[in-house]
Amino acid sequence: MSMAIVKITPSPLRTLVVLALILSHARADPDPLQDYCVADTSNRHSFWVNGAPCIDPHSASVSHFTTSALSKPGNPKANPFGSNVTLTNIANLPGLNTMGLTMARVDIAGNGLVPPHSHPRASEVTICLEGVIGVGFVDTSNRLFTQILRPGESFVFPKGLIHYLYNFDWTNSALAISGFNSQNPGAQIASLAAFTAKPGIPDKVLATAFQITGQDVARIRKNLGG
Ligand SMILES: *[C@@H]1O[C@H](CO)[C@@H](O)[C@H](O)[C@H]1NC(C)=O
Repeated sequence: MSMAIVKITPSPLRTLVVLALILSHARADPDPLQDYCVADTSNRHSFWVNGAPCIDPHSASVSHFTTSALSKPGNPKANPFGSNVTLTNIANLPGLNTMGLTMARVDIAGNGLVPPHSHPRASEVTICLEGVIGVGFVDTSNRLFTQILRPGESFVFPKGLIHYLYNFDWTNSALAISGFNSQNPGAQIASLAAFTAKPGIPDKVLATAFQITGQDVARIRKNLGG
């Protein structure tokens, strides 16, 4: 980890400087400049801003700030990993535009996995609501932090670090809810990015990176639907 180790004799000024340094690295999305900026998700805008443009505040209504998008489970059996993530976004919850927030419900089938992935723009805090979920992340010095979550227990995945959620139970499904400090956290699944990118990463690159043969590369690509 690129973390400077500084020996400091405490003084109010130094404490302030260190605090400022820490906070400057913990910023979420930019703060809104008005009470809210309900996303205008109609497609008539031909320009891009960091987020979506706002509708006229006088047209805002309570429906822009509420959603039932997370009320129904996603289908975790629709993919080989056995998990399904449903997200709020500016389309189903336009009031979160510029707030630096997203929520997700994570449905995991028996023995299902949310495969190792990272969010380039957000830290994540997750709470297990049902089942027994093994979670973990790997830091940039390659150290694994892992925990088993039971209902009511939470875990933090720091921004950008590779993490996973695994349902240890063979038969019962598990449910977790996550919050993100970005309205657009982004997600990169490590195995899919490596083996199913379009166009594909050259076989030789993958063979060397994973120390496997060209046949292994082909097999993994096929397994992952790449
Ligand atoms: C998640 O579940 C929905 C149905 O609830 C399905 O349409 C979607 O394809 C699933 N996503 C994945 C990645 O399996």
